[in-house]
Amino acid sequence: MDMNATTHRRRTRVAFRPACRLFLAIPLGVLVTLGCGEPDSTNYDESRVPDYSLPAILQTADGTAVERPDQWLGRRAEILALFEEHVYGKAPDAPAEMRFEVLEEDGYAVGGLARRKQVLVEFAGESTGPGMEILLYTPQAADGPVPVFAGLNFGGNHTVRADPEIRLTKAWLRDGEGVVRNRATEEARGRSASRWPVETILSRGYGLATVYCGDLDPDFDDGFENGVHPLAPPRLPGDWGAIAAWAWGLSRTLDYLEADPHADGGRVAVMGHSRLGKTALWAGARDDRFAMVISNNSGCGGAALSRRRFGETVERINARFPHWFARNFHAYSDREEILPVDQHMLLALVAPRPLYVASAQDDRWADPRGEFLSAMHAGEVYELLGERDLGATEMPPANQPLTGTVGYHLRTGKHDVTAYDWDRYLDFADMHLRTADAP
Ligand code: GCU
Repeated sequence: MDMNATTHRRRTRVAFRPACRLFLAIPLGVLVTLGCGEPDSTNYDESRVPDYSLPAILQTADGTAVERPDQWLGRRAEILALFEEHVYGKAPDAPAEMRFEVLEEDGYAVGGLARRKQVLVEFAGESTGPGMEILLYTPQAADGPVPVFAGLNFGGNHTVRADPEIRLTKAWLRDGEGVVRNRATEEARGRSASRWPVETILSRGYGLATVYCGDLDPDFDDGFENGVHPLAPPRLPGDWGAIAAWAWGLSRTLDYLEADPHADGGRVAVMGHSRLGKTALWAGARDDRFAMVISNNSGCGGAALSRRRFGETVERINARFPHWFARNFHAYSDREEILPVDQHMLLALVAPRPLYVASAQDDRWADPRGEFLSAMHAGEVYELLGERDLGATEMPPANQPLTGTVGYHLRTGKHDVTAYDWDRYLDFADMHLRTADAP
């Protein structure tokens, strides 16, 4: 497929969608968590998607066409630097002083199916500095290191399973169910269990590592005074925002997994939902030690093409979440056409590693079609590197996954992570992370 400059044209027609008025009675903090905030002017009409021209992935800054696999690494570095400077911001290297303290070594968990481990990571090598806690499950029955899914969670490790042995996070949480005065309570245990099918993951031979995103950066706009930002305070407009801090934490999680005897650090799939799906993509793009990358309903600033301006837009995301991206990204609010990159290039940075993008039919805010197109366009780098692209140029019907080295599905239903999504990720991991001698 020739896509050096991919141009899309649409007719212009005006349409309006109903506002989110139903939610007005809900307190603001909950609204932010729920992700409401879709203004009346949100475009949900394909015919109103503006004409746009995507920046070429396979052409270097000086105009040279990238035609051979050996030219890709140079172009990859250029694209990565553009995302760092203009979108997510530059994060520091791994801290030299980092220390792991195993708080629980061999917990008997999930009815004997799992070995549960809890590990404190101190980034500055001291208990008073910033840190994070990893909850790691590996199958008790495995006789060697297993491939692991690694992902951040929204509400604390204790929300992943109703298990009294999981440490309640002491970090800041947004008030809501099971959270009182920004602190976790026992009631919150297992609150997100439907998003983390631990039994299924384990019984299919995989491990699961998860960390609370708020350990790395509490999700509110505080001028970057908490979490890990004080390790390298953002001063320049191209310095790290919250997503970059969360992604940095995923790389530190991988640092730990590389050292753990039960996990195979060479077979870690980074996975995330929504804002944490944007994060998983940026983590997987920056850190090529991640063997597989999965984006679940990541939308704007994640898998969806910014230039389509369908659902959430750059202007909207910057206004509501000013701390997520580098300050430079604000210059592109309502000016997507001058962005030096678009999100298909972020996905391409994962190549040739397996990449899976998942959308949900009712999740129009995240622009399912924009997510599909982005994955499709990223395919040209997979092809160049001898891997399989999506193998389709039309969006597949709901619940009919496409699986090349790039995978995609459109699930029925709403913005969420469901058993259906996980079954597909496990199938995809079986295809790509299993080796003949794997446990
Ligand atoms: C909001 C936000 C999205 C984000 C989502 C989430 O809806 O606008 O960009 O993906 O929250 O993280 O739940």
